[in-house]
Amino acid sequence: GKVAVLFGGKSAERPVSLMSGAGVLEALQSLGVDAHGFDPAERPLQALAAEGFERAFIALHGRGGEDGTLQGALEWLRIPYTGSGVTASGVAMDKTMTKRVWAAEGLATPAYVVLNRAELTRERIRTIPDELGLPVVVKPPHEGSSIGITKAMGYSDMQGAVELALGFDDELLFEQCIEGPELTCAVLGQGDGAVALPVVEIRAEGGDYNYENKYVSNDTKYLFGTLPAALEADIQQLVLRAYRLLGCRGWGRADLMLRKSDMKPFLLEMNTSPGMTSHSLVPKAAQAVGVDYPHLCLWLLAQARL
Ligand code: DAL
Ligand code: MG
Repeated sequence: GKVAVLFGGKSAERPVSLMSGAGVLEALQSLGVDAHGFDPAERPLQALAAEGFERAFIALHGRGGEDGTLQGALEWLRIPYTGSGVTASGVAMDKTMTKRVWAAEGLATPAYVVLNRAELTRERIRTIPDELGLPVVVKPPHEGSSIGITKAMGYSDMQGAVELALGFDDELLFEQCIEGPELTCAVLGQGDGAVALPVVEIRAEGGDYNYENKYVSNDTKYLFGTLPAALEADIQQLVLRAYRLLGCRGWGRADLMLRKSDMKPFLLEMNTSPGMTSHSLVPKAAQAVGVDYPHLCLWLLAQARL
């Protein structure tokens, strides 16, 4: 039957979604799937039912596509979709909520402070580095692709970082900066059947894996097999627990920091609609275990459900 590849959307990650969706659409068509692109920013979602689409591949990122709202609408339309359901999508879109769930279950995530717009006085902002040390990572908790994030190196960077992040969210997440390499680990499946793909170590120009280094730079390095086997297995187990605790299904990708001083991994967040651009990580991890991009898309589509 007809398959809709949902991409575009209205979030700040629209440009990333346009790249992910174009890749997924082409891949599914190359394998003979009757797939059509569909941008919810341009057409009402009800058209999916009216036009006889039987399944949806979600290649939207960020608010309105990855946060449970779209998933809820597809439930009402009775159109099976890829990836996590309403609750897991909603929690995972919020980095603060995600950390609360993980911390409550004893999973390591960097120390943090949460403050809303009213609480963010100049005096309060000045005290944050006293609590968390420097640098401090300032995040709008509902964004992706590093949008609105600043690594504040000193007290003087804090005000600007807060102002930038408040452009995206009314309540901000301040995180202790873990010094060490950034890691990512993708998961496929759900529940007891979920499997973790190989851990990828990211080495970005200038050290920070920011928007430019994610989607533009060709100098960012993605390395497999850099960790001792036992540590890699531990990280995969940690990520599987993190994934199951959130109730994710289909697929997801956890981002982590590995503390250099003692090689302890800290969970940063879970992405429930990971990037599928030519620079993205899940396709690289799948490739490392012999699954090419088109067949990864086909497998994800086959897992679509309500
Ligand atoms: N938010 C982007 C798309 C990612 O995590 O891959
Ligand atoms: Mg993210």
